[in-house]
Amino acid sequence: MPPDATPQPSRALSGIQPTGRFHWGNYFGAIRQYIDLQPGAHQAADEAYYFIADLHALTTVRDPDRLRSLVHAAAVDLVALGLDPERAVLFIQSDVPEVTELSWLLMTVTPMGLLERCHAYKDKKNRGLPADAGLFTYPVLMAADILAYDATVVPVGEDQVQHIEVCRDLAGTFNHLYGEVFTLPKPRLVEGGAKVPGTDGQKMSKSYENTIEVFEDPSAQKKKIMRITTDSRPMEEPKDPVGDHLFELYSLMASEADRTRMAELYRRGGFGYGEVKKALVEVSAACFADARDRRAALESDRGRIEAILAAGAAKARARAGKVLARAKRACGLSRGETVAPAANAAKGKQA
Ligand code: TYM
Repeated sequence: MPPDATPQPSRALSGIQPTGRFHWGNYFGAIRQYIDLQPGAHQAADEAYYFIADLHALTTVRDPDRLRSLVHAAAVDLVALGLDPERAVLFIQSDVPEVTELSWLLMTVTPMGLLERCHAYKDKKNRGLPADAGLFTYPVLMAADILAYDATVVPVGEDQVQHIEVCRDLAGTFNHLYGEVFTLPKPRLVEGGAKVPGTDGQKMSKSYENTIEVFEDPSAQKKKIMRITTDSRPMEEPKDPVGDHLFELYSLMASEADRTRMAELYRRGGFGYGEVKKALVEVSAACFADARDRRAALESDRGRIEAILAAGAAKARARAGKVLARAKRACGLSRGETVAPAANAAKGKQA
């Protein structure tokens, strides 16, 4: 156990890329967990840190104005969806430079083969697309993101589990070489939300262009829902709801009773997918109605969002500074004394 972490509190941490507006996969796989884990919530951790991964987004978003506006929209969306900055620390990844420094330390213990097996890079390479070193080393930066805060639990969707395994590997190697520096985190997935399907039945993902965005204009959203692909079995044929992506999406938002009723309809047959789609339009509108209202109110309050992010960055830097100092000391980069940027940050000075 790291020397300054006794007794160890549970600390949730996760990051989300501002590469587009958040979709249902992001919400049901990850954001909903962020909210459940924030202190005071029903499955609360002792502390919760959530950030907007703008450094990771740089590997895909090349337009600076677009990136800035996506980062702002991401912060607004997270708060509108229920992330409470009084209870959780919300910040922007690049506001904590300690993380990029830590990522170099980890890079020196990262085998090339480990990164070659990571799917984001492998997929791009297999599709014959050019990949840059940013994409290749992406999991190392992600490991630094997690380890910099002594996170114990990382709420994510299934697609991020491999990266958390890499993080645990690197932390283990570093600890083996230099002593118990890092806390090993565990991924946290939710049943039913770990792999939300997109409109075509594959995993919902911006890169597959099969997303339904949380705050999409309602009529555009309705059109997308009505275009969800379904099979062409005749109306009267009974169908199994299990494994049907339309039913899966409906189940994420419907009440238990409505879900059971819909499953019965599937099994009985004699109905059209159009009816399920209409029902999905209704439940999704109801599910996000309050968040839409909160979003509308927050959108114009730029100052409030900036203040939340600045306060979050100061708290995040204070913690990451401690961990970075610990790691540098352990591997011989500092002269042995505790040079804690965190101490300066806490006093309100430049860290
Ligand atoms: P990103 O931005 O691709 O996705 C954000 C979160 O949404 C989850 N997710 C899904 N969950 C279920 N079903 C889906 N269809 C679906 N699509 C996306 C993702 O699993 C993720 O939890 N590398 C990360 C960002 C990151 C990070 C971190 C996460 C950077 N540093 C440190 C955790 C800890 C990513 O690209 O997520």
